[in-house]
Amino acid sequence: MNDTAADLRFVPLEADDVPTVDAWLRLTTESAEDVPLSAAPHCAADLTGSVRFAPPDTSLAGEVAFLGGQAVGALRLVLPDGAPVAVVDQLLTAPKERRQGIGTALFRRARSLAAEHGRTLLVADVVQALPGGPVRDEGPAAFAAALGATVSDGPEGVHQWLDLDRHDPSAGGVPEVPAGYRLQRWGTVTPDAFAIAVSELGQSLGASPPETWGEGPDAVRTSHVRRYERMRVGRGRRAYHVGAVHEATGELAGFTSASKTTGNPEHLLQGMTVVAAAHRGHGLGLVLKLANLAHVREYEPRVRLIETANADDNRPMIALNEAMGFVPQERFVSWEAPDAPAL
Ligand code: ACO
Repeated sequence: MNDTAADLRFVPLEADDVPTVDAWLRLTTESAEDVPLSAAPHCAADLTGSVRFAPPDTSLAGEVAFLGGQAVGALRLVLPDGAPVAVVDQLLTAPKERRQGIGTALFRRARSLAAEHGRTLLVADVVQALPGGPVRDEGPAAFAAALGATVSDGPEGVHQWLDLDRHDPSAGGVPEVPAGYRLQRWGTVTPDAFAIAVSELGQSLGASPPETWGEGPDAVRTSHVRRYERMRVGRGRRAYHVGAVHEATGELAGFTSASKTTGNPEHLLQGMTVVAAAHRGHGLGLVLKLANLAHVREYEPRVRLIETANADDNRPMIALNEAMGFVPQERFVSWEAPDAPAL
């Protein structure tokens, strides 16, 4: 270990430790200037909220590396409940401090933290340029390989962007709603009447749900979507939804979800779109997305750039996004580092 890495002091990143959260926020935000735009710019409310509010069924473990009084690196792991993996959500060295072993020290801490939480595998998404696409830093993949990580058979896919100034897929209006369905809008908080259905659709991706979802006020209160909303609200995000209701049965046949951070009035994150298996083949996916885009723009007239990501095996959604004018920007590739003797 070189002198720089040996002098690092690691401080847990905890929501109530305001000075450390502030130092981490500055480091993360300032470092972003060095990274090509693969997501919306950092939003302070979203980032600080993310320290306190983990996604449902996960917990977070993070540390900030200080050199003297200066934050020079950061590490965040997402720990899915009941799984042997720790997902590297952030492993960052301040741009001016790179190639001095800080990343390696962070990686070691990641291994230790993962082991402390009983995890035997570290996994991470690493961004890569697409052939002919925008240039991307090859450093992260070289770094991962240098530390003994390998490309896994985990999910790979593409990040896509739609610039509404270049192409507006809703210029011709929203296509007609297929016969037998009606559209229903809602905002950040899903109506009680749809909370279980949205949770089922989202978790099963439209396949037949398991039998155990339950019903009634307690099931609604503890549903996946309610817990997800808690995180969203805690991160200062606003969300916009459109659902398709099957008129004959009253069932929610599908929905789409898009959300915004507080700090980025021009950026929208296109989240999940799912249509139940029994209701596919009617063009509902495109209708939902375009109707929701119209919904968003009524409330957020400055939205211009829409970001989304799809795994390679979700060809229908990639094709739908391309038809809407989304342009692939980069690939994300899964890497893994199994538990190994200390480096
Ligand atoms: N190009 C080629 N090889 C690299 C590069 C690079 N840009 N950066 C690191 N490496 C390799 C080298 O083999 C290096 O050893 P060397 O300097 O003796 O040649 C080795 O990785 C260790 O490098 P460190 O000095 O320990 O790492 P550093 O502090 O520079 O941090 C990091 C590397 C974290 C990738 C940094 O560039 C960064 O913060 N990038 C932006 C955030 C990011 O993309 N993180 C994802 C990391 S991948 C993952 O989490 C598995």
